[in-house]
Amino acid sequence: MDRAQKDNAQKKYEISARDKRGLSILAAILVILLALLAGIVIKVKSDLNTPFTYHFHIEDKEISIGKDADGVANMDGSLSAADSYVYSVDISKHWVNDPGVPLQTYGAQYDNTVTNNSDYDIVNWSVVLTVPERNITIDSYWNGEWEYEKKADTIYFTPDDRIETIHSGDSATFGAVMISKELMDFTDVSFTGCRYKPVTKYFLFWVIMVMLVAWVTSFVAYLLFMAREANHRKNEDRLNSVILDTMQTFANFIDTKDGYTKDHSSRVSHYSELIARKLGMSEEQIRDIGYIGLMHDCGKLAIASEILEKPGRLTPEEFEKMKLHTKKGGDILTEFKAIEGIREGVMYHHERYDGTGYMEGRKGEDIPLVARIIGVADAMDAMNSDRCYRAHLTREKILEEFENNKGTQFDPKIAQIMIDMINSGEVFVN
Ligand SMILES: [Fe+2]
Repeated sequence: MDRAQKDNAQKKYEISARDKRGLSILAAILVILLALLAGIVIKVKSDLNTPFTYHFHIEDKEISIGKDADGVANMDGSLSAADSYVYSVDISKHWVNDPGVPLQTYGAQYDNTVTNNSDYDIVNWSVVLTVPERNITIDSYWNGEWEYEKKADTIYFTPDDRIETIHSGDSATFGAVMISKELMDFTDVSFTGCRYKPVTKYFLFWVIMVMLVAWVTSFVAYLLFMAREANHRKNEDRLNSVILDTMQTFANFIDTKDGYTKDHSSRVSHYSELIARKLGMSEEQIRDIGYIGLMHDCGKLAIASEILEKPGRLTPEEFEKMKLHTKKGGDILTEFKAIEGIREGVMYHHERYDGTGYMEGRKGEDIPLVARIIGVADAMDAMNSDRCYRAHLTREKILEEFENNKGTQFDPKIAQIMIDMINSGEVFVN
């Protein structure tokens, strides 16, 4: 893992794409719920500002709207229930004025009732009654204002504040005492009003309220979840950073003691990660292989400096001692259990695919995969670095070495991956 990757890890504290998606979904749901709520409010206001008119044609002094073609033709479309409104006119008492004279008249009390069977309250309403004869006199009235328009043969009624609202399921009663030539039979009544239903009486309103409560709960839960996740990521990154820095420092010890070019362990770690990625390993496995790459030569801390720092080639005895660094590395890491495969990687990274390597002479797939990866990465950096007894190899020579040693020194598949990476420029050759 290099510094750039560590910097990327820092960016994790920002809102992740997944969190952004979650917040977008929550925002979209909120917009839909608020739009539905606004729709209900608009409908309520629209109903309130859109008067409707019913024409009642009264037979037998009481008739429901819808029984007559005239009534149906003037009904408001959304209030088409035939029995939503009922209008009746009853003569509760009557008497004869000046009986026996040619111009005798009748007095009568006309009781009007409007029954509202709809789901809505009715407000801002009024009534126009068509008068069946001329020359009537309105003697008195109650619950509203009666006005006789003689030329139009009509009476206008507007309710007073006692009955200005006819609630759903209620009736409004009003009337007048009138003097006329005959007892009057009101057959045509025009009723005008506005529908009103408070938003709280809409079922959808309560559905929206329940969903809004659920939304707020979800939103708060999501924020808490995001905060906890961010905190968790921060702690995890801090921990990874501490591990990486510790291992990097340890690798610097190894490289310093070994006399290798600076950063050998870091480069082996980097190449190992590249190979692991090509092999399709998980991010966690790749990260662990990077750590193992940093540690692969830790056993050299237990090898005498005279051998490690010897400028020329080692004698056979010295080389035998040098070979012990794999075993010593395994011993050092006996208690290191946190990174899976770290001991295997350290102990077997000098095994050869054909079984002629050390420390156990393991062969082929018996060599743990992590050790085969590090073996290729280690050889790559060795060939690509200057040593006191030779300069680094050329690009062609390195490619040739990997090609020629496929299946002998190196796992052929991993060697091919390295060849491909050199050819594509992913791995830079000095
Ligand atoms: Fe080594």
